[in-house]
Amino acid sequence: MASAANVLIAGDLVAFPTETVYGLGADASNSAAVARIYSVKGRPTDHPLIVHIASMERMGDWAGDVPEYAITLARNFWPGPMTLVLKRSELAGDFVTGGQDTVGVRVPDHVIALALLEAFEKAGGMGVAAPSANRFGHVSPTTAAAVVEELGEYFSKDDLVLDGGECAVGVESTIIDCTGLLPRVLRPGAINTVMIEEVTGLDVLSINGVDEIRVSGSLKNHYAPVAKVLLCEVPEAGQGFIAHKNIETPSGVIRLASPGDDEEFARVLYSALRDADARGLSEVVVVQPIGIGIAVAIRDRLARAANGR
Ligand code: TXA
Ligand code: MG
Repeated sequence: MASAANVLIAGDLVAFPTETVYGLGADASNSAAVARIYSVKGRPTDHPLIVHIASMERMGDWAGDVPEYAITLARNFWPGPMTLVLKRSELAGDFVTGGQDTVGVRVPDHVIALALLEAFEKAGGMGVAAPSANRFGHVSPTTAAAVVEELGEYFSKDDLVLDGGECAVGVESTIIDCTGLLPRVLRPGAINTVMIEEVTGLDVLSINGVDEIRVSGSLKNHYAPVAKVLLCEVPEAGQGFIAHKNIETPSGVIRLASPGDDEEFARVLYSALRDADARGLSEVVVVQPIGIGIAVAIRDRLARAANGR
């Protein structure tokens, strides 16, 4: 971990596992290192990055004017699959925030991520900027092999990929805008609206007008595999199929995943979509989960995947 932290300090990239998806990390206070994230991902530079920190004590380094309810959220759900969008401090440069006056901050819940962040802070680092470790618009990686498949050809010899196995959650963190009087969910994830309302005692607003604040994950055609994703259709022979375990596979259809519950659905979804591409399938039919917990995040990502690349 100390040597991985030194890779970051030197201005190189470290891809690392989190509980949601793999991140592509760089020193968040080094503009040249952060610029490499954008080129390796092929992402437009006006899209903001999330700063990952080892504990909520670091929140004040990156953000100012933190409202009471944001502190409540941090206490309850960090480390965890939640990103808070806050008024930025001086430290949060335009090259991390995409020029906005806010910054996204998160404490991930993964032993390797936390050990890396702690080693980085011990070596003098302030925070690690990390988007999902995929090419812009593609499906996020949930294994180290998927990171290498996405970005391998763009890495330099000093960059590093840490292998922490399969991500436990499987879809990206819930993003909550904490700059208004009430929390507002910009991207649904494992921390859902009911949980946010329960701990804050506040009404939660849902996404609206996000285009103007450039949440790239809110683009209509994000998270898409090469294969065409079809929702609300009956699968035909030769098509891929992803559905809950209790739904049968029609004959000739290629079953890619059979999750037993919504949590497993989230965990296996992205690798199943990658599998469709690996098998060269042109179409995948997905029966969406109907729940109100993490199923909301799954339906959100599927709707975008269905819009194609
Ligand atoms: O689970 C996750 O959040 C993963 C892991 C690696 O932590 N990261 C992730 O990063 O999904 P990324 O860059 O692929 O998606 C982060 C989203 C982007 O859509 C970005 O626009 C939005 O967060 N975002 C970051 N900072 C923001 C800000 N200040 N205001 C609004 N949106 C912001
Ligand atoms: Mg992403």
